[in-house]
Amino acid sequence: MNMSSKVIVTIFGASGDLAHRKLYPSLFRLYKTGNLSEHFAVIGTARRPWSKEYFESVVVESISDLANSPEQAQEFASHFYYQSHDVNDTEHYIKLRELQNQLNDTYQAEHNKLFFLSMAPQFFGTIAKHLKSEGIVDGKGFERLIVEKPFGTDLETASQLNKELEETFEEEQIFRIDHYLGKEMIQSIFALRFANLIFENVWNRDYIDNVQITFAERLGVEERGGYYDESGALRDMVQNHTLQLLSLLAMDKPASFTKEDIRKEKVKVFEQLVNPSDEELKKQFIRGQYRSGKIQGKKDISYRSEPNVNPESMTETFASGAFFVDSDRFRGVPFFFRTGKRLTKKGTHVNVVFKQMDSIFGQEIAPNVLTIYIQPNEGFSLSVNGKEVGEQFQIAPISFDYETDATATGASPEPYEKLIYDVLNNDSTNFSHWNEVKASWSLIDRIEHMWSENQVPLHEYKSGTMGPQASFDLLKDYNAEWVWQPAIEE
Ligand code: BG6
Repeated sequence: MNMSSKVIVTIFGASGDLAHRKLYPSLFRLYKTGNLSEHFAVIGTARRPWSKEYFESVVVESISDLANSPEQAQEFASHFYYQSHDVNDTEHYIKLRELQNQLNDTYQAEHNKLFFLSMAPQFFGTIAKHLKSEGIVDGKGFERLIVEKPFGTDLETASQLNKELEETFEEEQIFRIDHYLGKEMIQSIFALRFANLIFENVWNRDYIDNVQITFAERLGVEERGGYYDESGALRDMVQNHTLQLLSLLAMDKPASFTKEDIRKEKVKVFEQLVNPSDEELKKQFIRGQYRSGKIQGKKDISYRSEPNVNPESMTETFASGAFFVDSDRFRGVPFFFRTGKRLTKKGTHVNVVFKQMDSIFGQEIAPNVLTIYIQPNEGFSLSVNGKEVGEQFQIAPISFDYETDATATGASPEPYEKLIYDVLNNDSTNFSHWNEVKASWSLIDRIEHMWSENQVPLHEYKSGTMGPQASFDLLKDYNAEWVWQPAIEE
């Protein structure tokens, strides 16, 4: 057995939706694959006064479709303990310490501890502080902290939060979750880029014209209007997921495939993000908000009519723009992105558009495009030019496609399963380092500031489209156009 599977996991926010939907099933999958065995226990905490029996039933319910038998589900759930907890009450941490010690002895967990903060971020600092002051973090065994997003709402709050966490944990012990980094196809970018000579050698400004990142969602804000109206697409999807993905696409080749070398290269990209002038910023980043619309005969309401959303809200549900990375590899190459709610269909895609070749054929040649399908379909496709069958010589596009259904069939791990596995193995490759978070907020804050002062328009877009016209116009300014333009079905 490897040492990492001996651990007491404490989840703050155990009655929450994320715990139920993602954490318990992911822990169960790790249990089923033998990565967690008899030497582990989970302490769930939240305000509600639940009994151990009730907590076990919640856990069993959340994994019922994954378990081989009710006995297996029950055996797994017997490792779960509940403690009602008020994050501001010191007494509660003392009780938590007692439970932690007791479970450590019962399960022989060698004092290894994993803390998962899955609740409102304003409590993260208080919890971290008490974990130390009440001796739960005691320097025995490994002690690791997983922090859910959002990591601050701007540079100032993120720095403050980081300072608070650092009073108890070292950077190496803090694992900031970005669940996209747990997705198969995002991890596959390492293989695509660094295990293929044909890509590695052309992965630069001499050959690549532009890179397009799309995070499209079909859903609206659903029941999260309260949170979302305060956040908006830029904070919700760009500061974290988009820039993380961009860093994997833009980074230089790491000296080795280790967390240290990968991190070094990723951090470099964040630090090389070009900070445009105010005037450029206004042109380079655009925002939008959905209005009502119809898709396949079904009507979607407008963002401002969603529950818990201010009827005069100026919050963006769509953001699009062009980032630049000031590196020898990519100087001058736009990394376009767009992300939004209520778009035509759900899809996370990357299109790497190569430069146009000079043509000797008397006809224009379409540029090669490498597409990475991240979700819901997963795979790669490479468009190349061939000859159309026939007497005449006519260039015709051909595409090499590879599609995997690993996630759909359950063959690949869930993002959270993979990420918790990494934490148990002390592998921080697929987590956001503080330097990355810091650099991303410095740029995002400037855009937020400009938007909050309404220095640029908030473009409307019809639900079911791929966002406002301004996002299409933006690419025209760089002589480019969005490769992915799904058909709109009203
Ligand atoms: C989250 C955002 O981080 O990612 C949500 O807060 C968004 O607004 C979600 O819907 C998308 O994740 P996925 O894995 O469903 O693409």
